[in-house]
Amino acid sequence: MPTAPHPPRDPAPVARAGRAPGAWPMAGHLPHLLRAPLRFLDSLPAHGDLVEIRLGPRPAFVLCHPELARRVMSDGRTFDRVGPLYEGSRAALGNGLATCPHADHRRQRLLMQPAFRTEHLPGYATAMSHEIGIALDRWRPGTTVDMVDEMFALTTTVAVRTLFGSGIDDRDIAELRDSLDTFLKGVYLRALLPAVDAVPTPSSRRYRRGLAGWRAHVARIVADRRAGGAAGRDLLARLLAARDDDGGALGESELHDQVAVLILAGAETTSSALAWSLHLVAGHPDAERALHAEVDAVLDGRVAGPDDLPRLEWTGRVVREALRLYPPAWVLPRTTTRAVDLAGRRLAVGSTLVFSPYILHRHPDFHPEPELFRPEREYADGTGPGAWSRSAFVPFGAGPTKCIGDTFALTESVLALASIAARWRLRPASAAPVRAVPRSVLTPRTLPMRLIPR
Ligand code: HEM
Repeated sequence: MPTAPHPPRDPAPVARAGRAPGAWPMAGHLPHLLRAPLRFLDSLPAHGDLVEIRLGPRPAFVLCHPELARRVMSDGRTFDRVGPLYEGSRAALGNGLATCPHADHRRQRLLMQPAFRTEHLPGYATAMSHEIGIALDRWRPGTTVDMVDEMFALTTTVAVRTLFGSGIDDRDIAELRDSLDTFLKGVYLRALLPAVDAVPTPSSRRYRRGLAGWRAHVARIVADRRAGGAAGRDLLARLLAARDDDGGALGESELHDQVAVLILAGAETTSSALAWSLHLVAGHPDAERALHAEVDAVLDGRVAGPDDLPRLEWTGRVVREALRLYPPAWVLPRTTTRAVDLAGRRLAVGSTLVFSPYILHRHPDFHPEPELFRPEREYADGTGPGAWSRSAFVPFGAGPTKCIGDTFALTESVLALASIAARWRLRPASAAPVRAVPRSVLTPRTLPMRLIPR
């Protein structure tokens, strides 16, 4: 039997429970989570495999071992998407696939799954290439572009076009994007401090306006599209045609919730993966050289299309390594629906658990020299931890709620990164260090880059 080159830790360890130090009297660890959340998360595995933290007066238990994380994520009945955090999300976003509790999940997943079948991907990828081409044609040599905004504009446009086809104009897309952006900027704060909107401030008014605008836009676009008939080969047509086990279709408000969720779950996550990829490539000359060699051989300056994907192997590695270092979905909570033993601790009903790809991806026991950007590490070079580490590489989650759009997102990211690299070399336009801001998604705060033609 082949042995792993780096003997991993025992996959079924006697897990250790621990407690994070530094809790404030009333606020617990909230100040750390608001001010320097990543430093705080990085510090947790040193205290155990299941680490208790305090969100204000309430305890929460952070999963710092992949085996515990796998157990929690594969049992949605016991570790459910319920509790105050999800109630808040559902009140704001509706009960779509990404936020629904276990009781609704199977039906919703069955209804949504057909729209994500492998055979539909080339069609979506063609629409992606088209939008990538339009975006890149606007770039001018020597100018500076904030890649956080630019990638967000690209991925929202791709999400809207693949969902609704071409029958939606650019003004609608821009309005949808603006309301989504305002809303996304406020979600993390409200998840940690739900009371923040009790006092009406300009920021809470902006947030509410963003949310209301977002929902109104989605409703109007779906209504227009329904009025025009359900035919077509876009995602919405497939959702309209979807039936559950009993032959039931998605109802009107369910449809709004799913459409809202798809744009929301797909746009900022993918744009953040792309922004981090561009940032990491610009700072690692060897990885950049390998990227340029690959795209020159495969694309010769043109925009990448679905047929190019099998040959964009290094590009894919770059994206996956960026997802390891900066997983956009960096924390996901779960709540226990029954008393349960985990890592030797008895957790009462209603306990909050935190699954964090960020922690697992940077745990030195599972990813040697985790802070280094090494696109070659994951599979082929024989020096990585190999198959064993797969459960410690979970940018798309795990178990029944694993991302439904994972292949969609990887396809879009690879097509966009390859097409950019085929024509442009991007260089930081500011000496300021690039900082990660953990909003609902882990994203660079800004990423101004100068466009240099290759
Ligand atoms: C790099 C980009 C992406 C990342 C990192 C990402 C990450 C994730 C993660 C971690 C989950 C699990 C949530 C949970 O268990 O509670 C998830 C679920 C989901 N994602 Fe993604 N996602 C990405 C792109 C997309 C795209 C492009 C779409 C749609 C086109 C999408 C749609 C969804 C949906 C609907 C769910 C809920 C699945 C369920 O509960 O069954 N995501 N995503």
